[in-house]
Amino acid sequence: MCGIVGYVGPSADTVALDVVMEGLARLEYRGYDSAGVAVIDADGVQMRKRSGKLVNLRDDIAAHPLPPTTTAIGHTRWATHGGPTDANAHPHLGGAEQRLAVIHNGIIENFHSLKTGLIAQGVSFTSETDTEVAAHLLAQAYTQSGDLTAAMLATVAQLDGAFTLLTVHADQPGVVVGARRNSPLVVGLGQGANYLGSDVAAFIGHTRDAMELGQDQIVTITPDSVSVIGFDGTPADGRRYHVDWDAAAAEKGGYPSFMAKEIDEQPHAVADTLLGRTKEEGELVLDELRVSEEALSQVTKIVIVACGTAAYAGMVAKYAIEHWTRIPCEVDLAHEFRYRDPVVDGHTLVVSVSQSGETMDTLMAVKHARELGALTISICNTHGSTIPRESDAVIYTHAGPEIAVASTKAFLAQITACYLLGLYLAQLRGGSSAVEAAAVMRDLREMPAKIQTVLDRMDRVREIARFMADTRSVLFLGRHVGYPVALEGALKLKEIAYIHAEGFAAGELKHGPIALIEPGQPVFVVVPGPDTPHDLHAKIVSNIQEIRARGARTIVVAQDGDEAVVPFADEVIRVPVSAPLLQPLLTVVPLQVFACELAVAKGLDVDQPRNLAKSVTVE
Ligand code: G6P
Repeated sequence: MCGIVGYVGPSADTVALDVVMEGLARLEYRGYDSAGVAVIDADGVQMRKRSGKLVNLRDDIAAHPLPPTTTAIGHTRWATHGGPTDANAHPHLGGAEQRLAVIHNGIIENFHSLKTGLIAQGVSFTSETDTEVAAHLLAQAYTQSGDLTAAMLATVAQLDGAFTLLTVHADQPGVVVGARRNSPLVVGLGQGANYLGSDVAAFIGHTRDAMELGQDQIVTITPDSVSVIGFDGTPADGRRYHVDWDAAAAEKGGYPSFMAKEIDEQPHAVADTLLGRTKEEGELVLDELRVSEEALSQVTKIVIVACGTAAYAGMVAKYAIEHWTRIPCEVDLAHEFRYRDPVVDGHTLVVSVSQSGETMDTLMAVKHARELGALTISICNTHGSTIPRESDAVIYTHAGPEIAVASTKAFLAQITACYLLGLYLAQLRGGSSAVEAAAVMRDLREMPAKIQTVLDRMDRVREIARFMADTRSVLFLGRHVGYPVALEGALKLKEIAYIHAEGFAAGELKHGPIALIEPGQPVFVVVPGPDTPHDLHAKIVSNIQEIRARGARTIVVAQDGDEAVVPFADEVIRVPVSAPLLQPLLTVVPLQVFACELAVAKGLDVDQPRNLAKSVTVE
């Protein structure tokens, strides 16, 4: 997830650069590990880009001013391919004469093979990004057609994945061309000037008249025209609308909170984490692997270390990884791991899970594991952060920046990345494990659409949450992979709604927690699908009956078509049918929405709950 801005205006002045820099400041919530701009003047493309926050770029431009211009593009980056360095920052220049610049949001899934083809033609690359491939393809196509829109049309035909691209060419000042597939792009319609942005926040200070592009469309803006065509070259049009949000709300895309927005971004977070992970033959690839396949195939034990929500992602992973690989897997809270004298050696794989990549407890656990000779893999959402740097390999989650303190989309992306790791290890083992891994990958690709289905059904959950605003205690029950989901549901409620909440393994109920049940006690039950092995479904239905008989108010999260729960449920929240091990990606969503809505109903600040920090960099 990155932020992009484009502008064309009537006369060469400093307005273009001001508009783009202001837009980048408003889009910084979409990514903030590097930033850059390109402007067109009589001498060609002038570019500045800097790693780090936007202020670094601003200082650089102040020290080395850019010329007046009519045409500018700008980018604020959240790294996916290639770390957050100056070289990997956008824009990227295409062609030997470097007269074309491009910025990109998304992931070009087939960039490996395109890059190999370009290198074979003698093209040299200056970055590790997937984006630079698009820059060179655009420059080649421009050489043939002499028209930037035609060049974009020829280029997008070669790209797979998710992308928004903006490009400018020194030979066509006063023109910015954009393309959109599975990533956002909005047009700002001005008077004698036009704008492009990842969202309306990019240009809200200049115009509230906007046009949303459809999927697979190309837009060409000049100071006084906006024209749209489809990827098939036929004329098209976008949906025009008037923005009635103010600038502050625009950053949240019109959502009341970042948490609400991030919950809604979860289908994308999962889809983007899956993108670009398989080679053409279907074989899985990791990002930065400084450990050999041979060493990984000799792993006899896995330990997952993490804190908070990330640790619950790790608990889900344990079920999946052990099932797919038959390698014993433990999950440790990172701050407990190194003080319990863990049994770790050169055949142990220690997997850290961290959204920020900076959690001190997790970092210290990774360092300790390395001292003991373990192989270390980091699952992380933040390129260039410390934990991936300290690890032998990394799988980045592509959830985009998570601003709300309570983690939501990063959790789903972490589970997805853990699945990818489990499937990768299963693939290395070969035989039936590899066959099963291929089947699970197919199921995984269907999960973003199913998460969207859950999100589309949340009205009743919001009603229940508002109705329960005065509740003082909520219990959550789950079994199998539903157990960590129950723990996460309870954590969300504690974190943002300050309500006492507990998650339990449903089988443990009779060993103590059932004593807590009194008439009216709300209990969420995360029910495994009826086809979950070992009759777990029937067992949890019995658990629901046990608590119902003692007066609990049961709110049951169950799969579509599961009628066995209905007689014992005060409320049934439905999720689509999915493979048992993948269900957490669906069942946790209503619990997140419930916590968020209940906290709002209590008048609390859901994005910045009391006493908490997003990234805890002390032990
Ligand atoms: C803090 C946050 C939690 C988060 C945990 C781990 O406690 O408040 O929301 O789950 O840290 O953070 P990490 O960045 O390592 O995933």
